[in-house]
Amino acid sequence: MERAEDAGVYKLTDELAIVQTVDFFTPIVDNPYDFGQIAAANSLSDVYSMGGKPLTAMNIVCFPIKELDVSILRLILQGGLDKMREAGVTLVGGHSVDDKEPKYGLSVTGIIHPDKVVKNTGALPGDKLILTKPLGVGIINTALKGGMADETAVRKATECMKALNNTASEHMVQTGVNACTDITGFGLLGHASEMIEGTDTCMVIDSKAVPYITEAKSLAEMGLLPGGLHRNRSYREHMVEMGQTVPQYLSDIMYDPQTSGGLLISVPADKADRLLEDMHRKGVTDAAIIGEITDSPKGKIIVK
Ligand code: CO
Ligand code: CO
Repeated sequence: MERAEDAGVYKLTDELAIVQTVDFFTPIVDNPYDFGQIAAANSLSDVYSMGGKPLTAMNIVCFPIKELDVSILRLILQGGLDKMREAGVTLVGGHSVDDKEPKYGLSVTGIIHPDKVVKNTGALPGDKLILTKPLGVGIINTALKGGMADETAVRKATECMKALNNTASEHMVQTGVNACTDITGFGLLGHASEMIEGTDTCMVIDSKAVPYITEAKSLAEMGLLPGGLHRNRSYREHMVEMGQTVPQYLSDIMYDPQTSGGLLISVPADKADRLLEDMHRKGVTDAAIIGEITDSPKGKIIVK
């Protein structure tokens, strides 16, 4: 746990380890069924980012049972269950608490070969970086709360958050990669920082190649930025050399906290194009090569 990995790994035998993770949060979209799906996809993601295969899950539920209609709770749980089914995961139990604010998520157990754990460190100079989902959902969710997001923006963000990272993870494991993490609350640059902090490597990101949901641009320009975005920037900007020509909205989007974001994968250069093609063919259509790992300046992220 010393390097803040995405999930805990416990070795059972030389061939088998279990991967465990837990995550739950308050609703970020209005539709309870969508919220259930997003929360489940988000909880499963930390197993996928380590290259594991999730097997079982338990529901964690907080709900104001006296104030809100129970049908809302049923829709949340149905969304979670349908997402688990899509992932091939069996629901084996759960726990619920009467609470003022609804919250939902999963505790997930998966399996992995102990020698094939994909950590968030291990990126090597020469690697290419692949990001598998577009950014910008934090900005769009903030606009939604303020009544400023249009239907298209909300639909795109919801689809993005609902998408499982299973396909990207399976191809990553088949390919053999050097490092991976999933992009969540710290944003692209926060999680990228964790990948190279304290190592002898540097990360170069081509801002023009970074995928984002189109609608997030104008919302960012209107200043609809989540509080977490500013915190992410002030926490990590000492590691980041932001190029003079990088537009402000793109800088904002790269610090935007994501919910159920994509995988950031560091893959040897000779395997990168093939891995990207495989992902595109299997429906991970927004995946893109966004940069590379170099050997200096050490511990820095250069954004061009
Ligand atoms: Co994670
Ligand atoms: Co997590």
